[in-house]
Amino acid sequence: MLRLGPFTLPNPYVLAPMAGVSEMPFRVLAFRLGAALCPTELVSSQGLMRANQRTLLYLRFDPQVERPYSLQLYGGDPDAMALAARVGREKGAQLLDINMGCPVKKVTKNGAGSALLCDPARAAAIVRAMREASGLPITCKIRSGWDARSRNYLQMAAALQEAGCAGLAIHPRTREQGYSGQADWSVIADLKRHFPELPLFGNGDVKTPADARRMLDSTGCDFVMIGRGALGNPWIFRELAGGPPPSPEERCALVLEHFQAHVDFVGDPLGAVRSFRRHLAWYAHGLAGAAAFRARVNTLDAPEAVADAVRRFFASADTDRSAPEEEQDVDYRAALG
Ligand SMILES: Cc1cc2nc3c(=O)[nH]c(=O)nc-3n(C[C@H](O)[C@H](O)[C@H](O)COP(=O)(O)O)c2cc1C
Repeated sequence: MLRLGPFTLPNPYVLAPMAGVSEMPFRVLAFRLGAALCPTELVSSQGLMRANQRTLLYLRFDPQVERPYSLQLYGGDPDAMALAARVGREKGAQLLDINMGCPVKKVTKNGAGSALLCDPARAAAIVRAMREASGLPITCKIRSGWDARSRNYLQMAAALQEAGCAGLAIHPRTREQGYSGQADWSVIADLKRHFPELPLFGNGDVKTPADARRMLDSTGCDFVMIGRGALGNPWIFRELAGGPPPSPEERCALVLEHFQAHVDFVGDPLGAVRSFRRHLAWYAHGLAGAAAFRARVNTLDAPEAVADAVRRFFASADTDRSAPEEEQDVDYRAALG
C-alpha cells in the first residue's frame, strides 16, 4: 500500500510542495519529524534546461536526510520537460513530480501548471517524455479541473496512468477556485474507486492529525499530503506517528535551528531575515503575544537581533487559550511570486 514506484515509504504522510516554503531547510525538518516524502517547490523546466544559476539553487537538498528526493518541475513543453528531467536526475533527483495545478497566470500562460488540465494529451506526453529521458518514476499533482464546467480529473488520471505515471496527487479544487471554498474530498474517493492501482495522494484542508486520518479512512487514498497545516507546525508529522506536540523549549530550539539553516541557505543575511518573517508568523500563530512578536520582528534586520527576539518569545511562549481561532494568515500570491 505504501509503495511508490521503486520506493516503500515508511508512513502515508507527506509534506505538500509549497513555493517559498518547501525549501531544503524546511524539508529537512519535516523529514526528521517523520514526513515520508517532501517534494521541492515548483522549479522551472526552462530555467533548468538552460542551467540558469538561480534555478539550480532551488535544487539543493540534503542527501543524508531527503530520501527519496522528489523534485517538482513545471513546464508546458514535453521536450523542455524531458531535458529538465535529465538535469534533475544528474543533480540527484530520485523522483520527479509534475506540477499540473498551479493557478498563477505567469505559469499557466505558458501552458504549464493547471493549464495542463485543459490538455490531457499534452500532460500525458510530458510524462512519457520525462520517463524516457530520465528513467525516473514520475508523479503528477493535479486539481479537479480548470473550472466548475470542466472537472476532468478522471480523464486526467486515465491519461496519466496510461502514460506510466507512478503516483497521482489531487488537490480537489478547480483552478477557478484558487484556494477558496472547501476541498471536495469526494473527488479523492472517486479517483481511488476508478484507479485502485494508482498510488493516490489526497490533499486539501488537512489541518490536524485527526483530519489526516479522516482523509485516509473516508477516501481510501494511499497518502495524505499536508500543506498549510504544516506551516509553523512541522510537528504535525511527529504527532501523526503518535508523538507529542512540542514543548516551548523544543519549539524555541527548532525555530532557531530553522532560522540558522535558512540564513545559510539564502546566503544573504538581510534577504534571509525578511523571507523568514512569514515562518516566524506561522510559528507564533496561536501563542500568547503573537501579534506583538510579529510586529517586533518585522522591524528587525540583523540575524542576531532576530535570534534574540526568538529566544525571548518562544522560550516561554505557550498556547493562547483566550485568543479566538483565527485563520492562518497566508499570503499565497507573495509565495507564488
Ligand atoms: C504558499 C503556498 C505555496 C504553494 N506552492 C505550490 C507549489 O510550488 N507546487 C504545488 O504543486 N502546489 C503548491 N501549493 C499548493 C499546495 O501544495 C496544496 O495543494 C494546497 O495548499 C492545498 O493543501 P493544504 O490545504 O494542505 O494547504 C502551494 C500552496 C501554498 C499555500
